[in-house]
Amino acid sequence: MTGFSADWLALRAPADAAARSRALARMFARALRPGAHVADLGAGRGALTGWLGKFLPKGTRWTLVDGDARLLSLALHGRKRRMSLGGRLPEADAYVSTALIDLTGPAWLRHLVRHARGRPMLMHLAVDGRHEFSIPHPLDEAVLTAFARHQRRFKGLGPALGGEAPFAFATMARRAGYRVALARSDWSLREPALLLATVEGIARAAAEQQPFLDAAAWLHARSRQIADGKLNLVVGHRDVLAIRHRRRPTVRPA
Ligand SMILES: C[S@@+](CC[C@H](N)C(=O)[O-])C[C@H]1O[C@@H](n2cnc3c(N)ncnc32)[C@H](O)[C@@H]1O
Repeated sequence: MTGFSADWLALRAPADAAARSRALARMFARALRPGAHVADLGAGRGALTGWLGKFLPKGTRWTLVDGDARLLSLALHGRKRRMSLGGRLPEADAYVSTALIDLTGPAWLRHLVRHARGRPMLMHLAVDGRHEFSIPHPLDEAVLTAFARHQRRFKGLGPALGGEAPFAFATMARRAGYRVALARSDWSLREPALLLATVEGIARAAAEQQPFLDAAAWLHARSRQIADGKLNLVVGHRDVLAIRHRRRPTVRPA
């Protein structure tokens, strides 16, 4: 399992909250019965419960599942279950996640869809590979290509799908008989701390993937633009909702 810092998750939480699709959250809520049990897979410090909980029926019960006990200890609500997602998945009436499925491979996603057996799933904020800088830089293409390759490394749940994950998950769920809706949930970054942490993360991964690349020069230029308040960045994400077809009642002709 890849380690995620509690500070990074806290830093990104407001951008995640602003980006998540409210329309998909409402559709997900309508698919739940009162008192349903929702499992948040890769819950981290539990940011999703507060945001999604507002849309869900009264009495919804939460289980927060994560392999990192330190992150789970910071969550305020829900039953906490420290476990690896690499084995048998927990039983619940519905499954949700934020920023998880792009870390996983096709076999794990198939495993999730099979395990869910028609129960609703709402996967928030899977990267879709887009990065749109308000000011171009000559090294953008090389840096972002190396970063995308790094995102596809093994992250503990198979060779990660990175930016392909939301589309692969949507296809698998459709094949399993789900109705699927995708919505854009892009980060639109202007706030300097998150913007800087994001470009630092991109440069670090790109340099690890492609040591001959001058990622340090790219980072230096981007950091100056952020310090001068000149840079905006859109990071493409998708939310994916999967709900099973309800059988139409058969109406017999009179
Ligand atoms: C990008 S973080 C997102 C955390 C949280 N959903 C949020 O939005 O703040 C991914 C989370 O998945 C967890 N995770 C990744 N691989 C895991 C695995 N194999 N088993 C259990 N948890 C895992 C990490 O510990 C981390 O908390």
